Amino acid sequence: MYKTKITKLLNIKYPIIEGGMIWAGGESLAIAVSENGGLGTIAGASCLSPKDLISKVNYLKSNTNKPFAVNIPMIYPHADMLAEVCLNYKVPVVITSAGNPKKYTQTFKKSGIKVLHVVANEKFAIKSEEAGVDAIIAEGVEAGGHNGQDELTTFVMLPNIVKKVTIPIVIAGGIATGEQILASFALGASGVQLGTIFAASKESDSHINYKNAVINSKDNSTTLTGRRLAPVRALKNDFSQKILSWEYSDLSNENILKNIGHGGSYKAIIEGDIINGTPLAGQSSALINELLSVNEIFDNLKNEFNRAVNKLQLLNS
Ligand SMILES: Cc1cc2nc3c(=O)[nH]c(=O)nc-3n(C[C@H](O)[C@H](O)[C@H](O)COP(=O)(O)O)c2cc1C
Repeated sequence: MYKTKITKLLNIKYPIIEGGMIWAGGESLAIAVSENGGLGTIAGASCLSPKDLISKVNYLKSNTNKPFAVNIPMIYPHADMLAEVCLNYKVPVVITSAGNPKKYTQTFKKSGIKVLHVVANEKFAIKSEEAGVDAIIAEGVEAGGHNGQDELTTFVMLPNIVKKVTIPIVIAGGIATGEQILASFALGASGVQLGTIFAASKESDSHINYKNAVINSKDNSTTLTGRRLAPVRALKNDFSQKILSWEYSDLSNENILKNIGHGGSYKAIIEGDIINGTPLAGQSSALINELLSVNEIFDNLKNEFNRAVNKLQLLNS
């Protein structure tokens, strides 16, 4: 696989980043991704106390000498606490998401920490470059978890953003094969961020029911709820059907939120209740068909990528 601006910036072998993933993305998964040449990421969203994050960071530092990241979703009330730990423990890379890129970027950069910010449209890509981030992660509506309000697809967002910013762009949302990685490079990306495929891997902290649900899903198995509030992509189930019926009723947003309650993603991803919880997962679920280790995933991605390069060369001959 090619060396790109992202492999150089992050000092990694392959331009493949593990997206931060609440509950699914713990230490074992991050170590496996970093050891296989990508950038492993600790999900800050699941670290509810400084102690949680400190112990994960220390565990990573003693089990890999490769770079890794911490994801800070800025919508969570404990984001400031996560930022403080990242600064004090000088993590190599921080991936901020769901918020204003100006808030932490310069503080991290002054400490020598690389900053990537997740965006879902052109406006935030430009804002991120102005804020001084090292690279942006453009995440399309295909992605598992929280999505942007504009519901832009990766295939439209990437070629547009490429013309609007000069910093490297990582593309996320819907990617689970080597052919797609090659296509992302053709569109101007310098790297890819993958979520669902790693969430359903052997090393993920997610419950086996969650992994099996992803593996058995089809192209129409996910849905987007929260269009009136904050869009979220997850596997369709009884709970998502209920949420959608509330959203299409005349219930106020406040009452919808009250009905949804808290802890749906924990219920599905950790407790394995994939019927009544929220199994966050992207459309890429359709492309994930077996339970694999991170090492096997990297082998597949590399082989698929190389086969696609050869196919393109044959087309030309
Ligand atoms: C189970 C799950 C949890 C996620 N949690 C987070 C999170 O805590 N923070 C975040 O920035 N993105 C989160 N995401 C989005 C991923 O980081 C990544 O961008 C996305 O999964 C990429 O699209 P894909 O699912 O098609 O691979 C989550 C995604 C999944 C599948």
